[in-house]
Amino acid sequence: MKTRITELLGIQHPIIQGGMHFVGLAELAAAVSNAGGLGIITGLTQGTPEKLAKEITRCRAMTDKPFGVNITFLPSLTPPDYPGLFQVIIDGGVTVVETAGNNPAQWLPMLKEAGIKVIHKCTAVRHALKAQTIGCDAVSVDGFECGGHPGEDDVPNFILLPRAADELSIPFVASGGMADGRSLVAALALGAEGINMGTRFIATREAPVHDNVKQAIVAASELDTRLVMRPLRNTERVLNNPAVERLLKKEVALGANLKFEDIVEEVAGVYPTIMQGGNMDAGAWSCGMVAGLIHDIPTVRELIDSIMAEAEQIIHERLRGFC
Ligand SMILES: Cc1cc2nc3c(=O)[nH]c(=O)nc-3n(C[C@H](O)[C@H](O)[C@H](O)COP(=O)(O)O)c2cc1C
Repeated sequence: MKTRITELLGIQHPIIQGGMHFVGLAELAAAVSNAGGLGIITGLTQGTPEKLAKEITRCRAMTDKPFGVNITFLPSLTPPDYPGLFQVIIDGGVTVVETAGNNPAQWLPMLKEAGIKVIHKCTAVRHALKAQTIGCDAVSVDGFECGGHPGEDDVPNFILLPRAADELSIPFVASGGMADGRSLVAALALGAEGINMGTRFIATREAPVHDNVKQAIVAASELDTRLVMRPLRNTERVLNNPAVERLLKKEVALGANLKFEDIVEEVAGVYPTIMQGGNMDAGAWSCGMVAGLIHDIPTVRELIDSIMAEAEQIIHERLRGFC
């Protein structure tokens, strides 16, 4: 299957693994790229330029295919060394960068000069248009159903994707709620050139996280996610658990007076304990509604092959049958 995204990124299948904190390590990125998609290392999980450079080297040792690095811009009192992180991406010969969280304009000249393709992840058509105007090569359009940060507009992909298609001239991938061949064909029908998946890739054999995380996703239904931090305008879709229920009670009790410090115990620094330690109730962790469509833990190659086979079967048999 050739699309503007496979051509732009030099990959076989139009399937991207989005950056995921403490999940997007070299093992998963390499597995996705080896299976013909685009794997992405999560830059901020490494934290420092030195550690990210090592992770890029590790990934390169596991795949000779293109892979990317995600750089997320977060509001922070002590921001990470962004110039240093971008420099090791360039020095490491990485060909794709996924940016998210804020406007990447100031970093585009150095990335463009190095020949790096930039995919900006956004949750609103106006942000996608901005990304196009400043020179991003593609966007990842993240609908309301997505795991992680869906923004504050709450527009689901059945509306957001065709709206993006109506406005954009650069290619875009559909992100949020994507799980299988049905998702891929639907995304293509709505105007996207491929899909970006987060939650689905966590429940794979190669995802370097504790088995409890994978089992929690398999056990969850589409009703089991919650939106937290809405009063802080930093909404995150997470899997429900006792820590999330505690957090939501604080949000109700404190209302407009809620401050980040009030919920620090439930959200700050919890990822290593959850993803590596398997302590599922240690805090709030991102998970998409798509958990309701995830019932197995295949290898990454099995997953990608099955998505492509199902998509082709739908296009050639089911859809052709309607003509
Ligand atoms: C556990 C987890 C951690 C994530 N961490 C990040 C991150 O650090 N940066 C980022 O840009 N997106 C992050 N995301 C969002 C994903 O890259 C992707 O956009 C999203 O998961 C797509 O929705 P889906 O989960 O329905 O596939 C994360 C998602 C999950 C599930």
